[in-house]
Amino acid sequence: MEKSLLQSTRMLPCAVLLLTAGSKEAKDAMTATAMFVAESLPLLTISLAKSSTCRELIEKSGECMLNVASTGQGDIAKKLGATHGRDTDKFQEFNIPTEKASKIKAPAIAGSYAHIECKIITSHQAGNYIVYLAEVVACKVDETKVPLVWHNNKYFSLEKEVA
Ligand SMILES: Cc1cc2nc3c(=O)[nH]c(=O)nc-3n(C[C@H](O)[C@H](O)[C@H](O)COP(=O)(O)O)c2cc1C
Repeated sequence: MEKSLLQSTRMLPCAVLLLTAGSKEAKDAMTATAMFVAESLPLLTISLAKSSTCRELIEKSGECMLNVASTGQGDIAKKLGATHGRDTDKFQEFNIPTEKASKIKAPAIAGSYAHIECKIITSHQAGNYIVYLAEVVACKVDETKVPLVWHNNKYFSLEKEVA
């Protein structure tokens, strides 16, 4: 791909999600992003590389947890985005604390700004990615924390209201 076109994929500021999939026995976590496409029902899309280990677990379970990263989780976001679950147990390797979800088997990551529990409705192939449409079935927010934002390969804190 042309360098300038590849650069365009880094121009949209994104929420940083620590996506978890699987169950207590076989689980994985990766850094990802998502976009809401409907409010009622709350529906969102996530797009996962075919090579992703989390994607394989989502295919088996039909669900995933979107842990909305807080500013204290920048280091975890970098690590989860640079390693593959088939090579390493990321929860053990990076000492990631987990909690039980309320409606799905995938674990929540403690210390996140929000936990969004999702069930997959359908999927669509897009190049080397699979785009999933998912329904939000539960959500929990810790308003004492501040969300983390990604833009142009850098992480920022979402802190100051401007309008
Ligand atoms: C900020 C950020 C956002 C990312 N978003 C996605 C994404 O939406 N989809 C995807 O497939 N990979 C995304 N990645 C890359 C994956 O996190 C990375 O490939 C990871 O190693 C996959 O882990 P797994 O093989 O254990 O599933 C992102 C990485 C970063 C740092």
